[in-house]
Amino acid sequence: NGITTIDPGYKNTGSCESAITFLNGEEGVLRYRGYAIEELAEKADFLEVAYLLIFGELPSKDRLAKFHSDIKAQSHVDEDVKKILDGFPKSAHPMGVLSSLTSALVAFNPTSVNVDNDEDMYKAIVKILAKFPVLIAWTYRKRAGLPLDYGDDSLGYVDNFLKMMFKKPNGEYASDKKVVDALDKLLILHADHEQNCSTSTVRIVGSSHAGLFASLSAGINALWGPLHGGANQAVIEMLEAIKEDGGDTHKFMNKAKDKEDPFRLMGFGHRVYKNFDPRAKIIKKSADDVLDSLGIEDPVLDIAKGLEKEALEDSYFVDRKLYPNVDFYSGIIYRALGIPTEMFTPMFALGRLPGWIAQWREMRLRKEPIGRPRQVYIGETLRSFTPIEKR
Ligand code: CMC
Repeated sequence: NGITTIDPGYKNTGSCESAITFLNGEEGVLRYRGYAIEELAEKADFLEVAYLLIFGELPSKDRLAKFHSDIKAQSHVDEDVKKILDGFPKSAHPMGVLSSLTSALVAFNPTSVNVDNDEDMYKAIVKILAKFPVLIAWTYRKRAGLPLDYGDDSLGYVDNFLKMMFKKPNGEYASDKKVVDALDKLLILHADHEQNCSTSTVRIVGSSHAGLFASLSAGINALWGPLHGGANQAVIEMLEAIKEDGGDTHKFMNKAKDKEDPFRLMGFGHRVYKNFDPRAKIIKKSADDVLDSLGIEDPVLDIAKGLEKEALEDSYFVDRKLYPNVDFYSGIIYRALGIPTEMFTPMFALGRLPGWIAQWREMRLRKEPIGRPRQVYIGETLRSFTPIEKR
């Protein structure tokens, strides 16, 4: 059929042109819409970055205020969604619950989006930015046996999310600027990363003209895997396992290098970065700052630092250009903020949401064709059917 070459994992295949995120893996450069990630993490807030990614420019003060108030106006989630959530066992992994609830939102918001109508597109985007944090908070609270509720419209987007997660049944919640700022920064660092596995999933599902929420639900499932967003949970579990085992990092390094052993050093390596992941640099510093300012001592931070040091000096990791990635230190910060391990990947999803939306919107506005890779067939040639009694 004319196809003679394949590129498993699309290691060297470009799927689209994009004006959203610039990434130079050799030099460790990451920019959203031309702005350096380091500068955005320092100076912007998450909602501002969401607007930038989706619409291409930093919002004016008025535009950002309108964006936020439009989001607040859409934050209700149909009460019947609680019944769907109720049907899940408490032990269900939050990523599975989240993708199901995101898919279910389609049923409660059935109008299809006319992508050529800016207003229509804007409304759909605002709706999902408003409802997604509610779904995450409800997923967590159901697991924790806490009542499902809303936050507080007087708070910022991230503070409100934290309130929805952690407010006590009597409504008490003590907002802590240090916690809000730390989470805000983490969400910014996760907000987009060009054509990664979940984003490519969102684009390819959307390329069949499936709706925004359905495409996002598929992206959530792609993010769940431990080689992608699920790595943040896997890193902490690995660090805990090393601690439980007596803290011998060398032993685990050897396991990671042993080709007979499926164990990998979670939070290390990246498809595109062959130099330090610039996000990891910021997060490492942030982990130190957050633990310091909250007065927390976490023994797994020392294990992480020890592992990193060893790996950076080890020829196996050096030769393969394996560096710590965004997930290596993020879990340590989430933990310090009181977020339980199984909720780490949903936090990644919250951060990545604006990126997915921006990429879906770009793909539709550029009228990209349906995604449909080809294959090289390696199966049987023509053979004749054997009746069942003769097999
Ligand atoms: N530990 C040990 N060896 C590794 C690791 C690791 N974490 N990562 C890659 N390698 C080895 C791999 O075995 C291979 O060795 P060889 O050439 O001898 O066969 C070589 O390095 C190249 O690896 P690869 O699997 O071909 O590279 P890839 O681009 O297909 O995979 C990756 C990239 C991120 C999936 C991989 O590095 C990995 O599994 N890392 C651990 C999981 C992780 O931290 N994922 C988060 C990625 S960043 C955030 C995100 O995308 O969500």
